[in-house]
Amino acid sequence: MATGSTPTSTSVTWGSRWTFILAATGSAVGLGNIWKFPYITGEYGGGAFVLVYLACILAIGIPVMIAEVMIGRAGRTDPADAMTKLARESNAPRQWGLLGAVGMIAGLMIMMFYSVVAGWALEYVSQSVTGAYSHLDATAIESNFSSLLASSDRQLLWHSVFSLVTASVVAAGVTGGIGKAVDILMPLLFGFLLLLVGYSAVNGDFSAGLHFMFDTDFSRLTSEAVLVAMGHAFFTLSLGMGAIMAYGAYFPGHSSIGTTVLTIAALDTIIALLAGMAMFPLVFANDLVPGQGPGLMFVTLPIAFSNMSGGMFFGSLFFALVSIAALSSSISLIEPGVAWLEKHGIKRPISTFSLAGIAWLGGIASIHSGTIFNILDKLTTNIMLPLGGLLIAIFAGWIMQRDRVQDETGISHPRIFAVWRFALRYIAPLGIIAIFLHSLGLMGWVMR
Ligand code: TRP
Repeated sequence: MATGSTPTSTSVTWGSRWTFILAATGSAVGLGNIWKFPYITGEYGGGAFVLVYLACILAIGIPVMIAEVMIGRAGRTDPADAMTKLARESNAPRQWGLLGAVGMIAGLMIMMFYSVVAGWALEYVSQSVTGAYSHLDATAIESNFSSLLASSDRQLLWHSVFSLVTASVVAAGVTGGIGKAVDILMPLLFGFLLLLVGYSAVNGDFSAGLHFMFDTDFSRLTSEAVLVAMGHAFFTLSLGMGAIMAYGAYFPGHSSIGTTVLTIAALDTIIALLAGMAMFPLVFANDLVPGQGPGLMFVTLPIAFSNMSGGMFFGSLFFALVSIAALSSSISLIEPGVAWLEKHGIKRPISTFSLAGIAWLGGIASIHSGTIFNILDKLTTNIMLPLGGLLIAIFAGWIMQRDRVQDETGISHPRIFAVWRFALRYIAPLGIIAIFLHSLGLMGWVMR
C-alpha cells in the first residue's frame, strides 16, 4: 500500500464538496439538537449550561471537527485504516488505528438508544396523523408520553421500523440519495422551527423561556453540568467516533476545510437554540418543569400542536421531519463500521444487517431498562466521545507533521492556521482533561 495520500483531486469536484456538506450536516443535525439539547438544558439549569456548551463548541468542537475532516481526507479511507495509514506515515505506532475501531463500537452503542428515541418520534407521527392527542390538555399530554414509556410494545415496534429503515439505506449504499433528501428537508425543518418559535413567542411565556435559556446563573452550574455540556458538544457535532472522519474522505483536495466546518457548526448550533426557544416558553406557560427529562419535546410540542389550528397536520409533518433528521444521523452511526467490514471482505448487506442487528438488540435492552438507556447515553456521550476527541486532537496536533497538516486542511491564511493549531494542541486537549478531572473532583483536590 502506498504511503502518502493519493492525489485524487482531479476526479473530485465541487459536487463532492457539496456531498460532504450535506452528509456532515445531515449527520450533525438530529435528535441531539431537537430532543436532547432542550432537555439537558432544562435539567442542568439553563443559561450557564448553554454558555458552557457554546464555549465547548467553539474552543473544542470546531477545532476537533476540522481535525477529523482533515484526517479523513488525508487517509481517504475508513477511519480505522486512515488512522493506521497516517500513523505509519508519521512513524507512530499503528495502534492509533484502534481509535477508529473503538469509534465504531461507540457508534453502535449510541445507535442503541438513538433508535429508540427516533422510534418515539415515529410514534408521534402516527399519533399526530390520527389526532390522538388533539383534544388533550397539558396534563393529559404529559401522561400520554408516560404511557408510551410504559408500553414496551409500541416502543419496540417503532424502534424496529427505524432500525430497519436505517439498515436498508446503509445496505443500499445510497448515502448520496439521503444527502439529496437532506438538501430539501433540512431547510424545511428549519422553517418549521422558526414557525414554532413564533408560536411560542405569541402563545407561550416567551420572556420566561428566554431568561431561562440565556440568563447565566453560575451558581446552578455543577461539575456534572460542565461535563454534560462538553459531551453534548461532541454528540451534536457527531465528533469523537470517526463519523465525520468517514465523510471527510469525500472532501475534495485542497479546498479549505475551515469555512465549511464553521458553517456546519453554526447551523447545528442555531437549530439547537431554536428548538430550545420553541419549547421553554411553552414549559413556563403550562406550568411544566424544565428539568422533566427526555420527554420534554414530546410533551411541550404536542401541547402547541393540540392548540393550533391545523395542528395535527403540522405535528405530523414536524415529527416526520425530525424522524428524517434522525435517519440521516443514524446512518453515520453505523456507516463507519460497515465501511470497515466491507473493506475487509464482508459484503455490504451482510455487514450492515449484522451491525444494525446488534444495535437493534441493544435497543431492546434500553427499551426495557431505563438504566441501560442511561448508561449507554452517558458512557458514550460524556466519556467515550470526549476521549476520542482528545486522542484525535493529540494525533492531529502532535503526531502528524505540521506541514502535512497545513497542506491537508487547506487553510492558507497563516494566522488562522496558527490559531486553529494552537486550539487543537493546547486548548482542546487541556480543556477536555480539565473537565474530566473537574468532574472527578480531582481539580478541587489539585488546587487545594
Ligand atoms: N449528531 C447527531 C445528533 O445530534 C447524532 C450523531 C450522529 C452522532 N452521528 C454521530 C453523535 C456520531 C456522535 C457521533 O443527533
